[in-house]
Amino acid sequence: MKNNRTLSLCRWVGGKYSQQKEIINELPSRDDIDLYIEPFIGAGSVFFNLRPKKAIISDTNPELIATYRAIKNSPLELIEKLKSLPNSCPKTFSEQKDLQESDEFHNLKDIDRGARLLYLQNNSFAGIWRVNKSGLYDVSFRNDDTKTNHVRQERILAMHKVLIDANTKILCADFRDVIKYSHSQPEVKKVTFLDPPYYPRSKTSNFTGYTANKFTTDDQIDLRNLALKYKQTNKMLITNSYIDQTIELYADFNQKCIGVPRSVNSDTKKRGKVNDGIFMNY
Ligand SMILES: C[S@@+](CC[C@H](N)C(=O)[O-])C[C@H]1O[C@@H](n2cnc3c(N)ncnc32)[C@H](O)[C@@H]1O
Repeated sequence: MKNNRTLSLCRWVGGKYSQQKEIINELPSRDDIDLYIEPFIGAGSVFFNLRPKKAIISDTNPELIATYRAIKNSPLELIEKLKSLPNSCPKTFSEQKDLQESDEFHNLKDIDRGARLLYLQNNSFAGIWRVNKSGLYDVSFRNDDTKTNHVRQERILAMHKVLIDANTKILCADFRDVIKYSHSQPEVKKVTFLDPPYYPRSKTSNFTGYTANKFTTDDQIDLRNLALKYKQTNKMLITNSYIDQTIELYADFNQKCIGVPRSVNSDTKKRGKVNDGIFMNY
């Protein structure tokens, strides 16, 4: 995989694939970061392209985190498992989707869970990961003629290298616990990038299908409060919608507004650009 290609795990709702450069430009430089922390890792575009020297990554989506562990610990086995699944096959798609409701699901290894996530995500309608209120994957098969490549061996090996080079600690935890844990670490120059589920721009624009639990206004306030609390010891950059509520919530922070392509809207006429905010406690 060429070094200048943007790297990310997969397509992810709210993913920062196209904004990663602008975000990295606002972070301290790589050499000025002893420990990089990303508690809402999603598909990890900022992490993979920053290539920090030491990192903690986390998310509350257990399947996503199992995938990261598989890429870090067993990339070749993961590639073999992916190769064993037939390309663009509706029957395999259904079998993989339904696995979560079977008894064997709880005994699956990270390799099987990672292969399942990558297979479903690649072969799904609009290429996304979304779960319902019970935490079950609920996107249907991509019913068109495109043949997808769900293996992407080079990408897995490139991600493996970044994870290993950064001696990455991979957690599956709530952002509050991750920030508290990182505070207990000895490194001096800590930098945290936080990309939570966004404050809704309107009543109908709120994507909540990352995990079974919703991200509430109280969660948004807790996040802001932690960024104020650790201001002296941890440089934190937060992204969110750029709307009246967030401009006010982050009134004590440095703010920057960037225009980004709108990613999820079933009405194609409403897919223009929207404003995202970058909020920094430094
Ligand atoms: C906007 S996405 C992050 C996208 C990521 N920056 C990227 O480039 O792909 C938000 C992520 O937060 C995770 N999440 C939701 N609630 C959480 C919580 N309480 N603590 C930690 N992660 C959470 C979701 O699973 C989702 O992956």
